[in-house]
Amino acid sequence: MAENREFFYRRLHSLLGVIPVGLFLVQHLVVNHFATRGPEAFNRAAHFMENLPFRYFLEIFVIFLPLLFHAIYGLYIAFTAKNNVSRYNYFRNWMFMLQRLSGIITLIFITWHVWQTRVQAAFGAAVNYEMMADIVDNPIMLWFYILGVISTVFHFANGLWSFFVSWGITVTPRSQLISTYVTMAIFVALSIVGIRAILAFA
Ligand code: HEM
Repeated sequence: MAENREFFYRRLHSLLGVIPVGLFLVQHLVVNHFATRGPEAFNRAAHFMENLPFRYFLEIFVIFLPLLFHAIYGLYIAFTAKNNVSRYNYFRNWMFMLQRLSGIITLIFITWHVWQTRVQAAFGAAVNYEMMADIVDNPIMLWFYILGVISTVFHFANGLWSFFVSWGITVTPRSQLISTYVTMAIFVALSIVGIRAILAFA
């Protein structure tokens, strides 16, 4: 019974990492990338997102609660669960460790980022190009954001690799090797999108 529950939570954790949290991450990075076309283009894109119908419902049920569950259960996995990694090679053991480490760094980054933006917006601040430009004006914050985005994107891309294994999509060693190349290409591409956006505010 307890094992069944654990299995269910693991599957839920895995699924939520991709749908909806991973999809939201990609969408968020694409909207931010509008900053490369100037303040007005970014403000228009951000404004469009802010004015989506059912905004609070979407924020709570599509972003906040799934992310909260994934993060809390992720911390539990990172610190307690013992997994059998012996069937994987040296490289995969490293990626396994980096997945947990990047989860923790990502949690710190997202908590700070949400505090600085969404929570301040709830207190009445305007979330726009100027707000982000002010934040990354501080070189420490600029680096914090760059490293935070790299960590988040790595966690998502490498997470996709294990997601495909967890759900029986990549079973053979060959498909898992191809998946390594594809997910690392996703990591590089999304890192470029994310970093270009941050530099556009700097
Ligand atoms: C934007 C935020 C995040 C995204 C998009 C994301 C995405 C993912 C994905 C796709 C997976 C792979 C699921 C699988 O193996 O089947 C995963 C795994 C994991 N995530 Fe996250 N995650 C995020 C935030 C976090 C946070 C804040 C933590 C907190 C520590 C965390 C901890 C973990 C852990 C420990 C795993 C490994 C699970 C395992 O190996 O079984 N994640 N994540």
